[in-house]
Amino acid sequence: MSIGRGGFSSRLGFILAAAGSAVGLGNIWKFPFEVGQGGGAAFVLMYLVFCFVLCFPVMVAEIAIGRKTQLNPVGAFKALGHRKWAFIGYLGIASAVLILSFYNVVAAWAFGYFVEIVLGHFDIGQRFGEFTADWITVGGYSTIFMMATAYVVSRGVSDGIERAAKILMPSLFVMILVLILYALTLPNAMEGIRFYIVPDFSQITGVVVYSALGQAFFSLSVGMGLLMTYGSYLSKKANIVSAAAFITLMDVSVATLAGFMIFPFVFSLGIETDGGPGLIFVTLPGVFESLGPIFGPIVGGVFFLLLAFAAFTSTISVLEVPTAYMIDEKKMKRSNATWLVAIFVFILGIPSMLSMGAVDALTHFIDLPGAGEMNFMDFVSLISSDTFLPLVGFLIAVFTAYVWKTENFNLEIANGDQSIKGSWLQSYVNFAIGYICPVLLGSIFIVTVFDNFLGIKVLTLLPG
Ligand code: PHE
Repeated sequence: MSIGRGGFSSRLGFILAAAGSAVGLGNIWKFPFEVGQGGGAAFVLMYLVFCFVLCFPVMVAEIAIGRKTQLNPVGAFKALGHRKWAFIGYLGIASAVLILSFYNVVAAWAFGYFVEIVLGHFDIGQRFGEFTADWITVGGYSTIFMMATAYVVSRGVSDGIERAAKILMPSLFVMILVLILYALTLPNAMEGIRFYIVPDFSQITGVVVYSALGQAFFSLSVGMGLLMTYGSYLSKKANIVSAAAFITLMDVSVATLAGFMIFPFVFSLGIETDGGPGLIFVTLPGVFESLGPIFGPIVGGVFFLLLAFAAFTSTISVLEVPTAYMIDEKKMKRSNATWLVAIFVFILGIPSMLSMGAVDALTHFIDLPGAGEMNFMDFVSLISSDTFLPLVGFLIAVFTAYVWKTENFNLEIANGDQSIKGSWLQSYVNFAIGYICPVLLGSIFIVTVFDNFLGIKVLTLLPG
């Protein structure tokens, strides 16, 4: 490990930090509304299959490349002797910067909701549109959020990132469990559970498959070199495959648990399940209000604090990607690199912040042939999460199997775990990286581009 670069002090620290990255708004905010729109349990099933079958192998490849080279995503490809492939690293860093620019804004909503609910302002749910359009308030919260993120990242890997994850991740689990127990006591809770766990296979259509795949990707933080970056701080003694399995399991568990918490709430209030992005922001304050003036602010406060915590460990991880690049490649000091990148990303996020109604031209930003009209924030999200992540995931799989070569990859994963050699798990990961991932991820990329940008609905050609 290069001197002064730092690293995780333990394997557990690495796992918690990487799981902290994976577990975020994607699990608690996005997953339930995607399940609601995707018809319930059938979507959940598809999502779980994709997480394990596709994302897990790409995660192993990312961590292996990072740990082999002990470098950021751009430096890593160069260090392996494939300078031409460093463009994958640049694409990853670009995705990180773009994702963080709008993710920080949604994180700011969660944080703002925490404050409003604690103050007993339950009508915030009906004022969702007004709240998000109020750029001064959201700007204030997002400034605080970005500064807190930069502060942790500037402290380095073990003192900042690892320590924060060790406190935040267990608290998050406890908060979710408490809320589930409460949700299960509500009238009609079981109807919600049924919607969530009993699959209706007639609900699986091309669109459901496609969105479940995108969700699996985004949720596991795969496809932007983030796990490569975290892997670069991992000790040579650590077992990569089992660490990746733990991270996948934790992420999937939190998403799954989030459903057990949300759907009883949704059904007990008789709310439509397909409410979209507003599902938790619009409807949950009403649930909390029904708990009365004492329990309402407490339970609701816990919920939105949880959301903000989950978002926080994710923003920390995303900021680390461009920061590591500036440290390794531009030889900057960590604190300078962190603040420089944070300020840049914050400025880049301003149009997203203004696109929720504050500025008309950004609110009605673009009208794409397929995806239709969207605001600036949705557009950035479409470019980065839906387009770049699968593309980078695809490229990483192809690079690992055919450029870096499977033998070298296998040598790196055997470091710290000799028993993986020749095991079925290794054969499986190799097969997935070489065949399943390139084919499936390559197809999603093509489908996204055709569908959204050119308006050619490839998915309607599929059954359903
Ligand atoms: N996985 C995070 C979530 O579920 C979001 C994220 C995506 C973080 C990509 C890093 C990279 O909210």
